[in-house]
Amino acid sequence: MSTQTLLVTGGAGFIGANFILYWLANHPDSRVINLDLLTYAGNLETLHQIESLPNYTFVQGDIGNTELVNKIMADVDTVVHFAAETHVDRSIKNPDIFLTTNILGTHTLLKAALKHHVKRFHHISTDEVFGSLELGSTKKFTEKTGYDPRSPYSASKAASDHLVRAYGETYGLPYTISNCSNNYGEYQFPEKIIPLAITNLMAGRRIPVYGDGLNVRDWLYVQDHCRAIELILTTGQEHQTYLIGGLSHDVSNLELIKTILRLMNHAETEFDFVTDRPGHDQRYAVDWSYIHQSLGWSPTVSLEEGLQRTIDWYLAHPDWWQPLKTKNQAYFESHYAGSKSI
Ligand code: NAD
Ligand code: DAU
Repeated sequence: MSTQTLLVTGGAGFIGANFILYWLANHPDSRVINLDLLTYAGNLETLHQIESLPNYTFVQGDIGNTELVNKIMADVDTVVHFAAETHVDRSIKNPDIFLTTNILGTHTLLKAALKHHVKRFHHISTDEVFGSLELGSTKKFTEKTGYDPRSPYSASKAASDHLVRAYGETYGLPYTISNCSNNYGEYQFPEKIIPLAITNLMAGRRIPVYGDGLNVRDWLYVQDHCRAIELILTTGQEHQTYLIGGLSHDVSNLELIKTILRLMNHAETEFDFVTDRPGHDQRYAVDWSYIHQSLGWSPTVSLEEGLQRTIDWYLAHPDWWQPLKTKNQAYFESHYAGSKSI
């Protein structure tokens, strides 16, 4: 079999980098090209250990750059498309870049993938496209749930999902899509709640909890997500969508924060309620039975175990996250202005 070439977009970000490390460890015969613009969220430090491998290439560039994307795509068998603007709070303050990257950037990749006859375009999406479930209900998102995005971020991701399907139906692009719940783990930018909480505590600060803290997210350890993507790429069906999730019971943000405080030996009270996120989705819960039945995937890392691993990793790697907090000080100061969490 000839060497397979994967184009990973957004491979310097949290999940993309974890995926590249996972993929190259398990598929040493394949080639990986990582196309990443290195926005504030991209960090090549994460990929230091593989940067000199002969089968790994990094290209700094924009997924919206037609000329560059076409040049790269000519040698590509499989696209794994992670690149996106991903932080909901930033999308509320500055939506434009979310539309440019997540919608137009995805469209540029789709056109090039079609032109160069890639064998598979795998689009990484989110459970947020399905909107918000009621607190206390037992409903879960499934592959049949209608789209109901409620933030500029989720609306832009929903639009990109629609474009991917449109390219499959109209032009026959061999695509797959996965919609995953909230990831956490090593190398996550410390603006997202779990690394924010851990690094705040390490720096002697408190944890900011939006609203009443009762919102529910469905947490998945990032390595479990990477394994699900691997299964979809190797055994998944073209033109199929797979939902990926982690938890079998609801965990509120308050419970999550209190677990982190306990695991880090801090008092249960070291958090503050702060102004809520506008349009804050109440509850996400993913029914992952389809990917379980069709591809045999299930999560393997419990929340408590995954949190412990994540805490241990951040404790051991201040050199990775401290510069990010310093460089993005202005963002943290303006976003949490007036709270004790900066
Ligand atoms: P991230 O913000 O950590 O990383 C995004 C990466 O994309 C960064 O390296 C950034 O430099 C790069 N990028 C941004 N704009 C680009 C552009 N125009 N061209 C090239 N590269 C660009 O994101 P993440 O949390 O790793 O999420 C990756 C993907 O997974 C996204 O598509 C996101 O919607 C999806 N997703 C994330 C989660 C989660 O919990 N983090 C859950 C489900 C789905
Ligand atoms: O569901 C998947 C999505 O998960 C991904 O598509 C997004 O890219 C990813 O950012 C994530 O979105 P969330 O908005 O759920 O993640 P975040 O870490 O920003 O927030 C998680 C929960 O914690 C949410 O209910 C808001 C709350 N929160 C967040 C921050 C940053 C706080 O209470 N305080 C905070 O300071």
